[in-house]
Amino acid sequence: MTDSTAEARFSDYYAATPRPPWDIGRPQAAFVASAERIGPRVLDIGCGTGDLAIWLAGQGRAVTGVDFLSEPIERARAKAAAAAVEATFLQMDALAVGEIPERFDAVADCGLFHTFDDAGRAAYVAALAKLLEPGARAFLLCFSTAEPGDHGPRRVSEAEIRAAFNVGWEIESIEPARFEVVPGIPGAEFSPGGAQAWFTQVRRV
Ligand SMILES: C[S@@+](CC[C@H](N)C(=O)[O-])C[C@H]1O[C@@H](n2cnc3c(N)ncnc32)[C@H](O)[C@@H]1O
Repeated sequence: MTDSTAEARFSDYYAATPRPPWDIGRPQAAFVASAERIGPRVLDIGCGTGDLAIWLAGQGRAVTGVDFLSEPIERARAKAAAAAVEATFLQMDALAVGEIPERFDAVADCGLFHTFDDAGRAAYVAALAKLLEPGARAFLLCFSTAEPGDHGPRRVSEAEIRAAFNVGWEIESIEPARFEVVPGIPGAEFSPGGAQAWFTQVRRV
């Protein structure tokens, strides 16, 4: 189970004004560009206020979003209702998703993988392995070691991604990408155009 420090940290972000730096009000471009590869039943893990989940649902996917905090989940439900889009949002720890009875073709992880320490990362990948059947895919957008500085999320190297998904997964692609942020707000001081990131596609074998 995730420690309460992480919950408190993210809770502070959601209490901040005007909004958390990652909460850009639309899906990240890396996911939009790859949408056709994302299967029909999607779990958006660490979904935040739901922009990616709602966008995918609007594209005809059956989408469930999970986040361990009530605040973003309530905002996501309100956004989906306002957009008249059907999506399911659950308050749940990402490490417990193996207990969800539904089957998914894809997991979309936009900014969650890079929040874990080494032990959490291993537990997270194990949870995904429990959730996904062979052939299902996970798509992950995480900060990369190419992003200068050390404020914000942990930077992840390509080698670390390969090591995390070394057993039980085929790594189909790891591409340089950008993690867009809300420009000009506190906490969003990253590279112009968005923090340097990796967009990773892995397949369960
Ligand atoms: C960087 S934010 C990204 C949110 C959203 N995916 C987006 O792109 O706007 C990471 C999200 O993961 C959630 N989160 C962090 N650790 C989690 C965990 N162990 N289980 C579930 N959600 C978690 C946070 O509450 C936060 O909403």
